Amino acid sequence: MTGEQMVALTKRHTLYEWSAQAHVDPIPVSRAKGVYFWTPEGKRFIDLNSQLMCVNAGHGDPRIVEAIQRQAATLAYANPFLATEARARLGEKLAQLCPGDIDVFFFTNGGAEANENAMRIARLVSGRHKIIARYRSYHGGTAGSLTMTGDPRRWAMEPGMPGVIHVRHPYHGVQRGSDMAEPALEELEEVMTLEGPQTIAAFILETVTGTNGVLPPPPGYLEGVRALCDKYGILLICDEVMSGFGRTGKWFAVEHYGVVPDLLTMAKGLTSAYVPLGAVGLRRRLADHFQQKVFYGGLTYNSHPLGCATALATIQVYEEDNLIQRAADMGCVMRRLLDELAAKHRCVGEARNIGLFGIVELVRDRESREPLAPFNGTSPEMQMLGKFFREAGLYTLVRWNTFFTNPPLCITDAELTEAFGIIDEGLTRVDAALAS
Ligand SMILES: Cc1ncc(COP(=O)(O)O)c(C=O)c1O
Repeated sequence: MTGEQMVALTKRHTLYEWSAQAHVDPIPVSRAKGVYFWTPEGKRFIDLNSQLMCVNAGHGDPRIVEAIQRQAATLAYANPFLATEARARLGEKLAQLCPGDIDVFFFTNGGAEANENAMRIARLVSGRHKIIARYRSYHGGTAGSLTMTGDPRRWAMEPGMPGVIHVRHPYHGVQRGSDMAEPALEELEEVMTLEGPQTIAAFILETVTGTNGVLPPPPGYLEGVRALCDKYGILLICDEVMSGFGRTGKWFAVEHYGVVPDLLTMAKGLTSAYVPLGAVGLRRRLADHFQQKVFYGGLTYNSHPLGCATALATIQVYEEDNLIQRAADMGCVMRRLLDELAAKHRCVGEARNIGLFGIVELVRDRESREPLAPFNGTSPEMQMLGKFFREAGLYTLVRWNTFFTNPPLCITDAELTEAFGIIDEGLTRVDAALAS
């Protein structure tokens, strides 16, 4: 099929997400390898977003592909009331990798379902019903996860699920910057008090905020959140769907802060997206609750053997190729490249990264620091930049006044430099447009 045919047919018979269909303009893709993918006509893109921040191991790794083939040939599916070797081995492996005493897992199809089940587990264990979540967050597209989401993707589904309260994120945008931990924690504690801590089952946050800005917590914040949750008997859910599996240079971002959540959700990098799989990890105390009490939850594809086998092979690749440490090391290279962009281009307001999790926020000028596109909007300059990246063969997410730098963890120095060369050229054009 030609690229043109793919685009025409997919647009005619399938829905593209979060979009008015008339305005989508997808890139047709037919194959991928390492940090690159190609259109059917052979145009090459460097994938600086690991697709949707998920192909952490890189595209087309034969070790993962062979594991999928082997599992499919042996046992493609077994229902979740049965026991399989892939499920057994993956549970054991994740128990080794996860922080603290998180050593029991419920497997789902992806991140949204992992968060749905984390919320459910928190409610069942605590006997409380409210959930506190934050603005500037994304937790998934299903009813509960979308209600917990604190960005515009929630708006169309409101009022959503009862009992979810949002508190502000410490970050207030490129103009106002971030609060320190102390005022942010004071505000959180005030909301907990006003809502009645005895009614609050859990507080959910992205350990490092993803699509809403690649925002690591201010120093002391996560530790303070842990202490507040402990003080009021509120369970802490860390959503590591995007930040997990090496993205930040650690297996899980919570390791940067020495905090163990009660529930940890994951997906994306768990299988590097070769097949869908998510999971929620529970601390032993929470898991023990379900020894005698029923766990009211289920999915036809819970613990899907293909997903579990893929996750095991993916984790093995991370280990064999030392990709988690590599993300930390290459994160230093990215830091230097981001600093160079910030020094050279007037339109760069902020350039942040933690490991290979990076973002650039563009501003109209350095004095006012007005974002180059409004909240939840775009601008001719951002559209021009997105168009330039596409023409130049750089794939990444351009959102509002930001674009992301989240390559597969196997990226080399030369490949990262190649990508940043294209960014440099794009930002030169933005500077010129702003100057004229
Ligand atoms: C932090 C976070 N949580 C949850 C999700 C939802 O995951 P999924 O799309 O696999 O349901 C995402 C997806 O982008 C995410 O970034």
